[in-house]
Amino acid sequence: MSTLSISARLPVFPWDRLEPYKATAAGHGDGIVDLSVGTPVDPVPDVVREALAAASDSPGYPLTYGTAALREAAAGYLSRWHGVSGADPRHVLPLIGSKELVGWLPTLLDLREGDQVGYPDLAYPTYEIGALIARAEPVAYGDPVTDLDPARTRMLWLNSPSNPTGRVLSAAELRRVVEWARAHGILVVSDECYIELGWEGAEPVSVLHPDVCGDRHDGLIAVHSLSKRSNFAGYRGAFLAGDPAVVAELLGIRKHAGMIVPQPVQAAMVAAL
Ligand SMILES: Cc1ncc(COP(=O)(O)O)c(C=O)c1O
Repeated sequence: MSTLSISARLPVFPWDRLEPYKATAAGHGDGIVDLSVGTPVDPVPDVVREALAAASDSPGYPLTYGTAALREAAAGYLSRWHGVSGADPRHVLPLIGSKELVGWLPTLLDLREGDQVGYPDLAYPTYEIGALIARAEPVAYGDPVTDLDPARTRMLWLNSPSNPTGRVLSAAELRRVVEWARAHGILVVSDECYIELGWEGAEPVSVLHPDVCGDRHDGLIAVHSLSKRSNFAGYRGAFLAGDPAVVAELLGIRKHAGMIVPQPVQAAMVAAL
């Protein structure tokens, strides 16, 4: 493989890197407590399975934009469950699980060498990978406002509640980051896949909540995975919502590139939401 290949820029796949440690742990008398991959183990809810089965006769190509029913379900979920004002089905885009977006977003937004992508210093590994695939520079931050270079940062990831720390950012903490990023024209992408799984006492809040962003979604994208909240990881279903211009740009590219959620999965997402 040429050193010019993309994979040459990437670290060893994290779960492959853990293999030797797994082998060591497995040698212990009590065996391994494996916390490496957070994969759902509870059953897929019946309502989701029934919706998938009912949509199984789907011979035609689905829409990259998703069905109107799916985009309405996502917007309705954001406003009902997360108090998002102005959630608009037109500004929603389905994803084939959220990992593909995390891995490809910097590329889809045309980031390149010299651009920086901020992400939390203890984080899901794919934020870094997405930057590397695009040849951008991943920059781990403790505090995005003080640690990132506003001149070079094109986008920054938030993740509240955080994987792996569980830390929940308050509306005020989120607002501080959003105000700073907007002042510098930096896109904030908030990975909200654990938003329904906050610790007791901590109230996770979406970056699209009016207490965080006012009544405008410009400069903001929220990413919602169904994997954990609906035991949906095997189906691969997520969506993003937010800045209309960014949603339109991503839709335009993803249509060309075949990044389409299968029709039965779209129907199952509607049921889950
Ligand atoms: C923080 C975070 N983001 C994104 C994902 C990707 O989830 P999925 O691709 O199943 O939507 C995960 C999966 O564990 C995660 O922990």
